[in-house]
Amino acid sequence: MIAEIYNKKSGSTDFKAKIFIIALSSSYSNVIQGEDELEFFKKEQGLKKDLFYLRSAIELIIFVTIPEDIETNKGLEFARKKASETYALLKANNFDEVELYSNNSEIESAFFEGLILSSYQFDKFKEEKEVFSLNKIYSAVANDEIVNLLKAVFWVRDLVNEPPAHQTATVLANEFEKMASEIEGLNVEVFHKIQIESLRMGGLLSINRGSVQAPTFSVLTWKPDHAVNTKPIVLVGKGVVYDTGGINLKPTGFLETMKSDMSGSAVVSGLLKAVASNNLPVYLIALIPATDNRPGGDAIVPGDVITMMNGKTVEIINTDAEGRMILADGLSYSNKFDPELVFSVATLTGAAARAFGSRAFASMGNTEKELKNLSKASFLSGERCWELPFWDDFADELKSSIADLKHLGGVNGGAITAGKFLENFTSAPYIHLDIAGVSFTEKPEDYKPIGGTGTGVRALFRFIKNYISEKGTSS
Ligand code: BES
Ligand code: ZN
Ligand code: ZN
Repeated sequence: MIAEIYNKKSGSTDFKAKIFIIALSSSYSNVIQGEDELEFFKKEQGLKKDLFYLRSAIELIIFVTIPEDIETNKGLEFARKKASETYALLKANNFDEVELYSNNSEIESAFFEGLILSSYQFDKFKEEKEVFSLNKIYSAVANDEIVNLLKAVFWVRDLVNEPPAHQTATVLANEFEKMASEIEGLNVEVFHKIQIESLRMGGLLSINRGSVQAPTFSVLTWKPDHAVNTKPIVLVGKGVVYDTGGINLKPTGFLETMKSDMSGSAVVSGLLKAVASNNLPVYLIALIPATDNRPGGDAIVPGDVITMMNGKTVEIINTDAEGRMILADGLSYSNKFDPELVFSVATLTGAAARAFGSRAFASMGNTEKELKNLSKASFLSGERCWELPFWDDFADELKSSIADLKHLGGVNGGAITAGKFLENFTSAPYIHLDIAGVSFTEKPEDYKPIGGTGTGVRALFRFIKNYISEKGTSS
């Protein structure tokens, strides 16, 4: 649960921590009330500390400073990270109500975000729950938009953390329906196996063949009357609810986190949740092919040839490269909307994780302007992406001697050849995001507790906001 948020200063509750987040580039003497506090602040800050506190029986006063000469992106991320240290301090001292004060509202927003993101817990399977929770936050920058966005991130983390026995493709689709039923105007249509068969989604069906659970294909639509775009932005999310590798079974060490292989689907549906709950004027569609990837009796094998939804034939090289098979059908389906821009979002390759670790996700595509805008939004949100080249000669490796395409290139450049494979299935301007390295963390990282991180939702939300203001002023 997210803390209760109040957009005002309170004044009277006991056991309340005051937090001063001070950007040293602006004046602060009127923010820090009380001479003693101000003197303490000046002294400690002079010792080059960026987090220090005063504690009495009923009060905890925390000071955080943001360096003077730091660039905007870094300053915001610095604030989020200091918020996670602050959260640990609040927990250690058992203060569950806080008030924020700052001389910079953007910095305060980032700190607020970091504090909430740090407070996430996934304890539904534990009898002994964590006793501490952050219950109330008072902040002048708090508004519905940021709270709705953070609720969407929590929802995404919950989906990613749900174990596979509890979250089949059908359960996942039910979750989308449940989420959307709570937001006016957000529609979900779920195709079940029979419809998937009649749509001839050969890629999705091929991966599902080793499973005893049925696949689903979910279509989430947000089309408000006041949308700035007439052609939609379509996002296709990988919904592999568990990736065993299939017949090319993954070894121990590579399996344990594979419940997170539906993170792309969680991110794109979480984005629609955030956008729709904030009633943003943009036409968006999320497409989610979902299945588990298992080595059951009828599983596809390397050497098989599959006919995809768009009629192209694909030679299977390695059944662990399953994501691109189901995404390809999602992309083919997107063509019917004549989209303005198409994204795929997926935990697609170990190669992307090896390139950037958990520090960035990979972006690539054939539309330069939108890639630049995404990069800007991603750095401001602290969810950085880094662009990989998308040169056509990478696609040479996908030539097959028996089918129209192989689904896998050589051992090197795997994140890019995966993207080039997918590019075959859409005719719209296209961006592919490989979030394999950033979706799940096995150890707490600043404001990302263990498990699903929700990474991508905040970056894409900012991208969409900027898209709306740009489009809104140009038309
Ligand atoms: N789901 C994995 C990619 C992945 C790896 C996600 C690590 C998160 C963390 C994907 O389906 C996969 O198995 N990719 C293989 C492809 C290979 C067999 C060609 C990979 O990248 O190792
Ligand atoms: Zn795989
Ligand atoms: Zn996978």
